[in-house]
Amino acid sequence: MVADPSLEPGDPQAGLLFVDDEVNILKALTRLFRAEPVRVYTAQSGEEALALLESEPIEVIVSDQRMPGLCGVELLAKVRERRPDVLRMMLTGYTNMDVAVDAINQGEVYRLITKPWNDEELRLTIRQALETVRMRREIERLNQITRNQNQALHEVNAALQDMNRTLETKVQERTKEVKQKHRELRLAYISTIRALAEAIDAKDPYTRGHSERVAVYATRIARELGCTNAFIEEIYLAGLLHDIGKIGVPDAVISKPGPLTPEEYDLMREHPAIGGRILESVTFLCDIVPCVRHHHEWYDGSGKGYPGRLKGERIPFGSRIILVADTLEAMSSDRPYRTALSLDAVVKEIERFRWTQFDPVVADAFLALIEREGEGFLETSTRFDIEVFINETGDDA
Ligand SMILES: [Fe+2]
Repeated sequence: MVADPSLEPGDPQAGLLFVDDEVNILKALTRLFRAEPVRVYTAQSGEEALALLESEPIEVIVSDQRMPGLCGVELLAKVRERRPDVLRMMLTGYTNMDVAVDAINQGEVYRLITKPWNDEELRLTIRQALETVRMRREIERLNQITRNQNQALHEVNAALQDMNRTLETKVQERTKEVKQKHRELRLAYISTIRALAEAIDAKDPYTRGHSERVAVYATRIARELGCTNAFIEEIYLAGLLHDIGKIGVPDAVISKPGPLTPEEYDLMREHPAIGGRILESVTFLCDIVPCVRHHHEWYDGSGKGYPGRLKGERIPFGSRIILVADTLEAMSSDRPYRTALSLDAVVKEIERFRWTQFDPVVADAFLALIEREGEGFLETSTRFDIEVFINETGDDA
């Protein structure tokens, strides 16, 4: 092997290998490319050329055809097989159609050059060959960059998708936790209100459980009327607290076994307004204030209703429902001055005061329930299972 010392050592841009069994030709070619930016290698046989190809950064090979051992076509065919990236050319004095066809078919040569060559033409051809190699390398380099970038993008994308999934799972878990806490809070505060209602009822042994039953009857009527879950929850709370104002009425009046005097009756009539005032100060109960305040109004707006003598639709809808539920509960329970009345008697009372005391729409819903369920209505409406209700209605109530 002969390397041209005029070239910069280690220049990877140009490894040019000439193969010829004639030393003079190799010398002439080496001289010809002395000033070119290439590193020239020479080999005197195909075998030597193949060995150089293994160890040196050769990119262009120019071979003679007729040599001892491997001929040019055979050599270039082997080069094509082992190093398809090396650009192959044939430089031969022995030119006929067969050699040209073989060189093209077997060696896929870039050019076929005939001896004797023209120096300028050969230099130009080699420059073009090197430029082709350089461009191929540049294309390969760009392709590699693209492949690397695609791979990096793919990895970033996969990581992002992974993060997204983790985030989604976390959000779902947190949302579930928040919803659970919300349910627990609702349950806790409804239980507190229930305990408060029990405390109010406990003032009088005859009204024990009254508020809970009124609240349950009210929810049954509201459901019959097709009200929303949010409204049903609201009316349950209003039912529990409808008589909270009785806290402000003297015990002697509340639990008096006999008929009340007009003065005592006046005191008793104050309880809805007192209840409204008590609840006004509780932020999360302010929605039910009107419902509690007006649960003794008469639908016809007559003076029998209190405290506002409101009429018809001006009475809160919840109040009209609670009035029917309250009447049912009071009539169907024992009192100090009488025993519980029959359900028939209650039905007759509600029918009789439909349009005067009671909203006919609410009265009709109640009557439809009794018509359908009879005595069973009272038996199955003793307690409102708030836990089941909250779980069934989820977070829309
Ligand atoms: Fe009341």
